[in-house]
Amino acid sequence: MKVFSTLVLVPLMGSLALTRAAAIIPGAIVVDPSQFWDGNDGPWSSFPIRVGTPEQDVRLFPSTAATSTWVIQAPLGCEGWEGTSSASDCASYRGGNFTNATSSTWTDKGVYFLFVEQNLGYEVQGDYGFDNVGLGYQGTGVDLNSSLVTLITSPDFIIGSLGLNPRDTNFTTSDHATSLLSLLYEQNKIPSLSFSYNAGAQYRLNGVLGSLILGGYDDSLYEPNDLTFDFYFDQTRDLTVGLQAITSTTSSGNTALLPTPDLYLIDSTIAQNYLAQDACEAFEKAFNLTLDNTTGLYLLDDAQHAHLLELNPNVTFTLGAEKSGGSTVNITFPYAAFDLNVSYPITQNATRYFPIVQAVNSTQYTLGRQFLQEAYITIDYQRQNFSVYQRTWSLNTDTHIVSITPPNSTDLSTTSGSSPTDTSDSEQSSGIGTGAIVGIVIGVVAIIALIGGLLFFLRRQRKRKAAEKEAAAVAAAIENDQKDPVLPQDPYSSGPSDAIGELDSPPIKPPELHAEHYFTGAEMDSSQIVPTPEMEGDRVFYELEAPHGMHELTTSRVGATERQASDASNTPTWKSRSPIRHPSDGGG
Ligand SMILES: *[C@@H]1O[C@H](CO)[C@@H](O)[C@H](O)[C@H]1NC(C)=O
Ligand SMILES: *[C@@H]1O[C@H](CO)[C@@H](O)[C@H](O)[C@H]1NC(C)=O
Ligand SMILES: *[C@@H]1O[C@H](CO)[C@@H](O)[C@H](O)[C@H]1NC(C)=O
Ligand SMILES: *[C@@H]1O[C@H](CO)[C@@H](O)[C@H](O)[C@H]1NC(C)=O
Ligand SMILES: *[C@@H]1O[C@H](CO)[C@@H](O)[C@H](O)[C@H]1NC(C)=O
Ligand SMILES: *[C@@H]1O[C@H](CO)[C@@H](O)[C@H](O)[C@H]1NC(C)=O
Ligand SMILES: *[C@@H]1O[C@H](CO)[C@@H](O)[C@H](O)[C@H]1NC(C)=O
Ligand SMILES: *[C@@H]1O[C@H](CO)[C@@H](O)[C@H](O)[C@H]1NC(C)=O
Ligand SMILES: *[C@@H]1O[C@H](CO)[C@@H](O)[C@H](O)[C@H]1NC(C)=O
Ligand SMILES: *[C@@H]1O[C@H](CO)[C@@H](O)[C@H](O)[C@H]1NC(C)=O
Ligand SMILES: *[C@@H]1O[C@H](CO)[C@@H](O)[C@H](O)[C@H]1NC(C)=O
Ligand SMILES: *[C@@H]1O[C@H](CO)[C@@H](O)[C@H](O)[C@H]1NC(C)=O
Repeated sequence: MKVFSTLVLVPLMGSLALTRAAAIIPGAIVVDPSQFWDGNDGPWSSFPIRVGTPEQDVRLFPSTAATSTWVIQAPLGCEGWEGTSSASDCASYRGGNFTNATSSTWTDKGVYFLFVEQNLGYEVQGDYGFDNVGLGYQGTGVDLNSSLVTLITSPDFIIGSLGLNPRDTNFTTSDHATSLLSLLYEQNKIPSLSFSYNAGAQYRLNGVLGSLILGGYDDSLYEPNDLTFDFYFDQTRDLTVGLQAITSTTSSGNTALLPTPDLYLIDSTIAQNYLAQDACEAFEKAFNLTLDNTTGLYLLDDAQHAHLLELNPNVTFTLGAEKSGGSTVNITFPYAAFDLNVSYPITQNATRYFPIVQAVNSTQYTLGRQFLQEAYITIDYQRQNFSVYQRTWSLNTDTHIVSITPPNSTDLSTTSGSSPTDTSDSEQSSGIGTGAIVGIVIGVVAIIALIGGLLFFLRRQRKRKAAEKEAAAVAAAIENDQKDPVLPQDPYSSGPSDAIGELDSPPIKPPELHAEHYFTGAEMDSSQIVPTPEMEGDRVFYELEAPHGMHELTTSRVGATERQASDASNTPTWKSRSPIRHPSDGGG
């Protein structure tokens, strides 16, 4: 029965000209975190990635905004660090670096601005190119040939980003590159264009590392809720939520910290939350914070830190689909989730800070990685929606990975291996259900009819041509044709049998991962998956600006006054985050 269904349904797929040429839906991929806590504004849990040939290991932070894999370029990424406190271990401080010159598979594309976080004032350039990228440390995980990689050197992003946004990167109007997530999906390595992420929390238990699942989620990690957010109409801000309230709860009662509810973007690329001015003032008042005007951050001295520890507030973010009303979900943070350090080159030595930043205006309202310590996010790019859950921290729950199926796929197996609700019995697959058989029979009939129709057409065409050649006997030929009606032929008796023969090729094997990390949607037949129109026609293209000189790359953050300085110096400098203006605004 199984062989039969493969034989029959694969040509159906072929006839639909699908790019996902396989009969099996793969399971979700769990990307194991590195054991490191990285970054100069965290600490944050990083993920190991392999780049190039031979493979070089780097550690990256997952980015919901980036559409390519950003890695620190060697040796430029550590140029100018000489004589600094972090000079000796610059490369490992930056999560490892990648030498494109020694990779035999690197193909260079050119230097362009990174097109993300420009609204926050980041103007970082990267050297784009294509190379092999693998998820996980060497010897593990999934590989992709020729995936878009961006070499960065700017200290604005100390650690590179694993860009998980599936939209294309547009170099020119006719030149765009496919994202990592889309490549994984097109090559049938993940079940759908979706992923889930939690940043982890060093302050929980003995330090809980981040969780990243491509094509699925782990429903043992969060408190369920029934709020689903639709993508925002502006696709560069698709993960927008209504932030309805921020409430601080201490032993002496509740304090409201968000005077003006508004729409905020969830973006894991950056560490801090960019909040409205009035909200920052409410935080200042409630927590005795003072803005440091060199860094634009709320640095804490020992007295302030001790005061916050004593206050020990719980801070609750209330999210809804809109700015007010509707159902809501609360994400609650202990003070420890805000008790972070900044270090070189933002400050010379590690310094405590409170990770909120004053936004210039609503275009900067952002909930960053800080927020994703206690929030678990699941994003489904095909259904164009996402969910945000309160992360739970329990020592003794078993992981329960669930694959997200693409929309409009029909489960042809009796198992629920990839159904969003249950995966526990996914290994006990057996046979094909009644509905599936009906589907297959309909498919067979449709194919026979199709092939028959095709043969009919071809034969008529042949006859026509023959008739035309016999110019002398036109009338006779026509008469002949009419006397000899063409009937549909047995599809297995002629031409098309070749095509069917090809289908015997074995189905693409799912990537090899640890058993517990791999989800056996394996028995599920993907033959009825039709690419959704969004994925073909709804690509969003970003305009990248023209190449700039490489020497500018080390200092490209644009602050109020820093733009001019950046041309001259290679010394890593970190620019004030507030207020962020362009030179043309007359700022600084
Ligand atoms: C950084 O790159 C250099 C080559 O320029 C290499 O020798 C070194 O191992 C790399 N360090 C890390 C931590 O990746
Ligand atoms: C590596 O990148 C630099 C620019 O950063 C480029 O000039 C060089 O050609 C690249 N090397 C190779 C082998 O492509
Ligand atoms: C990548 O390319 C190499 C040859 O260039 C090939 O052997 C390998 O199978 C390819 N891997 C993937 C995952 O496509
Ligand atoms: C990106 O390229 C596509 C066609 O390849 C074009 O339709 C689109 O306008 C481009 N986007 C931008 C922002 O230039
Ligand atoms: C903060 O939350 C924790 C965990 O829910 C709870 O145990 C604690 O009592 C809360 N603190 C305050 C001041 O409400
Ligand atoms: C508030 O912060 C200032 C330093 O900015 C410190 O001198 C003062 O003691 C703090 N107040 C409390 C109550 O901790
Ligand atoms: C910081 O701001 C205060 C008040 O706005 C100002 O007096 C002081 O000079 C500033 N310090 C620096 C280092 O810019
Ligand atoms: C969310 O938190 C706020 C403040 O702590 C509380 O008043 C509200 O009842 C909570 N809502 C839900 C749905 O738990
Ligand atoms: C940084 O730390 C070192 C050694 O602990 C100390 O000598 C130096 O003064 C500190 N620098 C600053 C700016 O605090
Ligand atoms: C943060 O920096 C302080 C010194 O300012 C240090 O005592 C503390 O251990 C650091 N915390 C972390 C998590 O690195
Ligand atoms: C927000 O601020 C930026 C930077 O100052 C500015 O370019 C933009 O026009 C502002 N947008 C709005 C809606 O005020
Ligand atoms: C599923 O298919 C139906 C009809 O073909 C279409 O109307 C609907 O939008 C599709 N749903 C999704 C989520 O693609």
